[in-house]
Amino acid sequence: MEAYLDHAATTPMRPEAVAAMVPLLTAPCGNPSGAHSRSRAARRHLDDARDRLAEVLGFGPGDVVFTGGGTEADNLAVFGVHDRRGGTVVCSAVEHPAVLQPVQARGGRSIAVDGRGQVDLDALDAALDDSVSLVSIMAVNNEVGVVQPLDDVVEVVRRRAPRALLHSDAVQAVTWLPVERALAEVDLISVSAHKLGGPMGVGALAVRPGTSLAPQLVGGGQERGRRSGTQNVAGAVAMAAAAAATARDRPATATRVTALRDRLVDGLIARVDGCLETGVVDGRRFHRVPGSAHVCFEGVESEALLVLLEQAGVSASAASSCASGAMDPSHVLAAMGLSRERARGSLRLSLGWTTTDAEIDHALAVIPRAVAQLRDRAPVSA
Ligand SMILES: Cc1ncc(COP(=O)(O)O)c(C=O)c1O
Repeated sequence: MEAYLDHAATTPMRPEAVAAMVPLLTAPCGNPSGAHSRSRAARRHLDDARDRLAEVLGFGPGDVVFTGGGTEADNLAVFGVHDRRGGTVVCSAVEHPAVLQPVQARGGRSIAVDGRGQVDLDALDAALDDSVSLVSIMAVNNEVGVVQPLDDVVEVVRRRAPRALLHSDAVQAVTWLPVERALAEVDLISVSAHKLGGPMGVGALAVRPGTSLAPQLVGGGQERGRRSGTQNVAGAVAMAAAAAATARDRPATATRVTALRDRLVDGLIARVDGCLETGVVDGRRFHRVPGSAHVCFEGVESEALLVLLEQAGVSASAASSCASGAMDPSHVLAAMGLSRERARGSLRLSLGWTTTDAEIDHALAVIPRAVAQLRDRAPVSA
């Protein structure tokens, strides 16, 4: 038995995406910039994909710039706006590195979050002024699944920095939120195919009309000059099919997965002493997406736990990175105020459209055993 509980890292491709992609890989496909009939056919596929994706995102077809993934879309948003408009760029402290690093590279500011991981609106208010050209606040955090209060963010940004553009990394959001409504007031949004049932290495930045961006890849002038390079036609078509299937099934998937996630988290808390759910403040859970379960086990190292889990067929991840031999707690958990000690035992279990009851049963059998095994091994303190 196996349990794949790492959907936030990447989720299996949807059959609709595979069915849309395979014909374009197995039959000759022209270059969409060319003039002959095969090229024109490729261009039609690309245009259809653009239409379908734009509809899911709540943008016009001409507003979608295909990229090589979510990272490139985030880089294009931050660098593309800053290179055009200058000024100060601002983001939350819990952004993905694909936003954080470009913001840091341009000397920007990051805004604190509260214990639930939500951006501190007073701190945001205080950080904004006329010099700010871009504010980037993710829709859903990839480590802990917290949903950011984007309506409130829009209000603060429009009031305090009316000339600033608002970007949102929606890479983790499209699976769970009706982005066409939830992000209707946002100027630029980044998405990635492999997080929503499409292939790896394809993404898009959606840009409201009239928003000027400095291209970061120059050459043949594809994507209306905003991103040069021959498009990944099959990948774009598969991403659009995956996005449409995701949006169609979203309410049913969200209901089903919420029940599985709650059973998983409640089961772990009941079975394992010292299992602390992340983002619970004053006994209240934060607003997180259905697929996200994040806990910390006292007295356990997550790296060792992941090894035991993998041996027992459970694929999960930890929100920490190993830099130069020393375990660095994740910047997200640190920004939420978790102690280094607590963050060391963190475990991210992320569920998705393929998750089954049997996988949750397996995880609930394996994880408590693995934690107990590690605690037995831990040196007894004096
Ligand atoms: C929130 C977020 N933004 C950006 C990315 C990067 O996307 P990609 O893997 O398509 O480059 C990820 C992937 O982990 C993510 O979770």
